[in-house]
Amino acid sequence: MSQSLDSSAPTKDNPYQSKLLVNRLLNQGSDKETRHFELSLLQSGLTYEPGDSLGVIPENNPRVVDELLHAVGMSGAEEVQLADRSTPVRDALIHSFACTVLSKIQVKKFNDIAHADKLSGLLEPANRDAFADYLWGRELIDLFTEFPQQGIRPDDLLGLLRPMPPRLYSIASSIKAHEEEVHLTVAIVRYQSHGRDREGVCSSYLADRVGEYIPCYFHPNKNFKLPQDPDAPIIMVGPGTGIAPFRAFIEERRSTGAGGKNWLFFGDRSSATDYLYGEEWEQYRQDGLLTGLDLAWSRDQAEKEYVQHKMLAKGKELFTWLQDGAYFYVCGDASRMAKDVDLALRQIASAEGGMSDEEAGAWVKSLQKEKRYLKDVY
Ligand SMILES: Cc1cc2nc3c(=O)[nH]c(=O)nc-3n(C[C@H](O)[C@H](O)[C@H](O)COP(=O)(O)OP(=O)(O)OC[C@H]3O[C@@H](n4cnc5c(N)ncnc54)[C@H](O)[C@@H]3O)c2cc1C
Ligand SMILES: NC(=O)c1ccc[n+]([C@@H]2O[C@H](COP(=O)([O-])OP(=O)(O)OC[C@H]3O[C@@H](n4cnc5c(N)ncnc54)[C@H](OP(=O)(O)O)[C@@H]3O)[C@@H](O)[C@H]2O)c1
Repeated sequence: MSQSLDSSAPTKDNPYQSKLLVNRLLNQGSDKETRHFELSLLQSGLTYEPGDSLGVIPENNPRVVDELLHAVGMSGAEEVQLADRSTPVRDALIHSFACTVLSKIQVKKFNDIAHADKLSGLLEPANRDAFADYLWGRELIDLFTEFPQQGIRPDDLLGLLRPMPPRLYSIASSIKAHEEEVHLTVAIVRYQSHGRDREGVCSSYLADRVGEYIPCYFHPNKNFKLPQDPDAPIIMVGPGTGIAPFRAFIEERRSTGAGGKNWLFFGDRSSATDYLYGEEWEQYRQDGLLTGLDLAWSRDQAEKEYVQHKMLAKGKELFTWLQDGAYFYVCGDASRMAKDVDLALRQIASAEGGMSDEEAGAWVKSLQKEKRYLKDVY
């Protein structure tokens, strides 16, 4: 058994400190920022399988914490009790608490202190939509700015916050191709809202603030694995960062000499700037390892072109592959992309298999039941 699965394996409470080897921008001249990270597992004995994820334990940006401390009138040196130790509140906020993302429970707890009529109204069950609109793009700092609470006690501030959650990233490498390393593909979250520059905690930590070592642990995923049969064909649909596990799959199949055919659908904004790992895919196509490579550039023309449009255009071939036993994998955005890809699959079954909507739905379900339709979506 791999050490990543045994009882001495790192966990979120007892992470492995992995040395950061590479932090490289994958987009060139794009308004997106997707980065490739290489982390060392040197002499750790740790291992993983393609399809697994890595959990990363981030730290908050000290600038964001200082803004929050300023808003509540604390210096940061105030001592707070964490489990069995006393620590300055600034350190506690940087390392141990989620200081940005807001939930309804947090707004309720905040309003138990602030007693703001506006928040009380928004928290009424009848005002669900207005509350969701209010929450969008807001963080805890926005509550303290709109409803100042100078003089709040440090313990009461921490009482509003959840412990810092780790973030998962689909592993983008095969350990057979990169001995004692693990690679990630991360979209860095940066945006503006309500007059402030914002950033995702973990993606910006990886991009901007990590020191020499990253605390992390493996998160095995037995439901997103290559077929046991090396000769089984696979179809991979992974736009954006959804590409990550498929880089691992292809590296694994090349390293093991698996004979099955491989077909990749990738999409992103522009071919000139966002072809993530483009040189690798072109090489695999030339070498014949990638039998199919279909690329959807959403912003290279007036009409949106997405991976599911490419699937529909190749519907006949795709249906034949699936009827011949291919495995179908989807990775990336859960909220829209994965649903649209699922719909495209059913449309293909109707068009190419002469199925009614119901029959197409049942056919897709049967693929899932046979574990030939697998998703890693977030
Ligand atoms: C199994 C799994 C695998 C994953 N694999 C990958 C992967 O390979 N690569 C990858 O990049 N991510 C992956 N993710 C997502 C990843 O775990 C993080 O959720 C992501 O990096 C964002 O985390 P963060 O800490 O940077 O942002 P957070 O601090 O968590 O902030 C994100 C929040 O910011 C807000 N937000 C974001 N954009 C905007 C905007 N424009 N306007 C207003 N609000 C906004 C939203 O509320 C959003 O929920 C995966 C997730 C899972 C569960
Ligand atoms: N804050 C930001 O500026 C920013 C930017 C990018 C990503 N993100 C976040 O980063 C995370 C991951 O980003 P990512 O690189 O994996 O993906 P992504 O940037 O969200 O999308 C990758 C590609 O998928 C396309 N796409 C959008 N909707 C689709 C749909 N319904 N079906 C199929 N394809 C669709 C996108 O096109 P279009 O975008 O042209 O529609 C783009 O070409 C997400 O959480 C996302 O919210 C934030």
